[in-house]
Amino acid sequence: MPSIAILGAGAMGSGLANALTRAGWDVNLWGTWLDDHLIDAIEAGTPHPRIDTVISDRVTTFRSGDLAEALEGVDVVALSVASVGVPKVVEMALDGISKADALWLTTKGFLPMPDGRIQLLPDGIRRIADEAGVTIPPIVAIAGPVKANECAANEPTATIFGCRDYDVAVKYAREARSDHYCIEPSNDEVGVEVCAPMKNVYAIMLGIADGLEEKTGHPHHNLKAATFAQAVREMSILSQKLGADAATAFGLPGVGDLEVTGLSGRNKVYGVRIGRGEGAKAAMKTMEELEQTVEGVNAIPLAIDLVEQSAPDVKDQMPLLYAARTIVYDDDPEFANIVARAVLPPMP
Ligand SMILES: NC(=O)c1ccc[n+]([C@@H]2O[C@H](COP(=O)([O-])OP(=O)(O)OC[C@H]3O[C@@H](n4cnc5c(N)ncnc54)[C@H](O)[C@@H]3O)[C@@H](O)[C@H]2O)c1
Repeated sequence: MPSIAILGAGAMGSGLANALTRAGWDVNLWGTWLDDHLIDAIEAGTPHPRIDTVISDRVTTFRSGDLAEALEGVDVVALSVASVGVPKVVEMALDGISKADALWLTTKGFLPMPDGRIQLLPDGIRRIADEAGVTIPPIVAIAGPVKANECAANEPTATIFGCRDYDVAVKYAREARSDHYCIEPSNDEVGVEVCAPMKNVYAIMLGIADGLEEKTGHPHHNLKAATFAQAVREMSILSQKLGADAATAFGLPGVGDLEVTGLSGRNKVYGVRIGRGEGAKAAMKTMEELEQTVEGVNAIPLAIDLVEQSAPDVKDQMPLLYAARTIVYDDDPEFANIVARAVLPPMP
C-alpha cells in the first residue's frame, strides 16, 4: 500500500487526503503552525472548517512540531500549503522529501527569487534543494478543476498529474485513482504550472462581469464569455512561449480550472465585489477582514514580471493580464471599460 505525507492541512491538503484514502493509500496529514484548529476538528471527527466535510479516520494527523514523524518512511511527499509558505516548508521538509520517490505539488503560484526573477514553482523548489546541496525526486505538478470540498466529499473529479517523466505521471495516475477521483497523466509540467496561478487572476476578471450584472440588473454574459475566451488565449500564449504543449491550456488545468474557479471561490468573489462597485482596494480590505486570501491578487504582478522577464515579445498579446493590474492595483473606477477594451476584438 503506497504511503504519503501531505504537508498542509488546509482545504486542498485535507481534500487530497480523503481522495487518497479511497484509493487505498496510507495518509499522514501534517498541519503547519497555522493549522492547529484544523487538526483539532479533524481529530474530533467534526467537519473540516474550510470544506465542511469530515476527514477520514484512516488519515493520521500530525501537528507542526511533528514534521519528522510525519515524513518518516513515506513513498511520496505532497506540498499543499499556500504558495507564500512554499520556501519555508520545503526547507523544513527537505530531508524527508529527498528520501521519497516523488514530490507532489498541489500549491498554485509563482515563486519570486531573491534577485527578483520569477520562477515556476517546481523550478523554485529545485533551486532551493540545489542551494542546500540536496537531491530531490521527480516533481508531480497537480492541477485541474478540483474544488477541495467536492474532492473531499467524493464528488466526480478530474485532475491532471504533470511530470517531466511521463512514466512517473502514469504510475501515480494509476495508483491514486479511485472511482470518482480520476487523473490524466501529462509530461507538461510547464503548462500545468503556468495555467494554475494564471487562472486565479482571470477568475477575478470573470467575477467582475457577474458583479456588473448585480450592479446594473442586466446580464453581462457576453462580456463574461469574451473574458473567458481571452483568458484562455493568454494562458495558451504564455505557456507555449515558455515551452508548454498547446493542449494544456485548453484542457483540465486551463479551461477546466478556469471554469470552476470562475463559478465560485475567493478570486471570483473578489471580482464580483469590484464589479458591484465596492472599489478594488476596499473590496480587498473586506476580503482580508473575512480572512479570505485572494491568491490571484498576488499572482498579477508576479505574472507580469514573468512575462516581461521570460516572454517579453508576447506582452502585447496579454491585455487582460495588464487590465487586471490596472483594475486591482490602480483601483481604476473605469474598470468596466478597461475589461471591455481588453477582451473585445479591435477593429480589423
Ligand atoms: N481549495 C481548493 O479547492 C484548491 C484546489 C487546488 C489547489 N489549491 C491550491 O492549494 C494551495 C492551498 O490552498 P487551500 O485551499 O488548501 O488553502 P487553505 O487556506 O485552506 O490552506 C492553506 C495551507 O497553507 C498553509 N499556509 C498558509 N500560509 C502559510 C505560510 N505563510 N507559511 C506556511 N504555511 C502557510 C496553511 O497552514 C494551510 O496548511 C493553494 O496554492 C491553492 O491554490 C486549492
